[in-house]
Amino acid sequence: MKTITDYDQHIERMLFSPHEIAAAIDRLGERIARDYAGKPLVLLGVLKGALYVTTDVARAIARRPDGPSEVTVTYLCVSSYGNRTRSSGEVRLLRDTSVPLAGRDVLLVEDIVDNGLTLAYLRALLIGREPASVRSCVLFDKPYHRRVDVPVEYCGLVAPDAFVVGYGLDYQELFRNLPYLAQLRPAVFTQEG
Ligand code: IMP
Repeated sequence: MKTITDYDQHIERMLFSPHEIAAAIDRLGERIARDYAGKPLVLLGVLKGALYVTTDVARAIARRPDGPSEVTVTYLCVSSYGNRTRSSGEVRLLRDTSVPLAGRDVLLVEDIVDNGLTLAYLRALLIGREPASVRSCVLFDKPYHRRVDVPVEYCGLVAPDAFVVGYGLDYQELFRNLPYLAQLRPAVFTQEG
């Protein structure tokens, strides 16, 4: 059974502390609350990575006195990496949201944007459902290897050009529960085929 202590031997360095992540999410919540003030908002989290950031952004919005009139929190689930560190470029919708999106303001919440294919795929999918608007909120941006020019209206922190884990992000389904963002030791990847 893995614990956070077991993880320590695999971590090269911490990139953003829990405190820095919480502050970034607070700033995102403030901006989103202001921009959607008085309007109903659908927060659509992208599983599995955005599990934590979606709930934390939803609560950061709720802490603001003059935010959206109501917030619906829902999720869909996609897969784009398999068990590797480089994107396959292929995005699959594994599970859809059951919330109708037509005529509503939708904010996609993602853990990280790298080549941009996942967000581009999801935006195109959602636009087909004729929402009133679609925007994207991403906690971590890796702007170094974009393959598509996809708009990101709300960005929390810029991550280095490295494969990162923690705060929802995984390597082979591990490390999601780290409370900080981290870079793994190169030895962790030696098994990758
Ligand atoms: P993109 O399609 O390359 O923009 O990548 C989006 C998805 O790839 C994210 O939602 C993550 O699930 C995954 N991803 C991208 N970079 C990383 C990383 O450094 N660590 C873990 N997952 C990543």
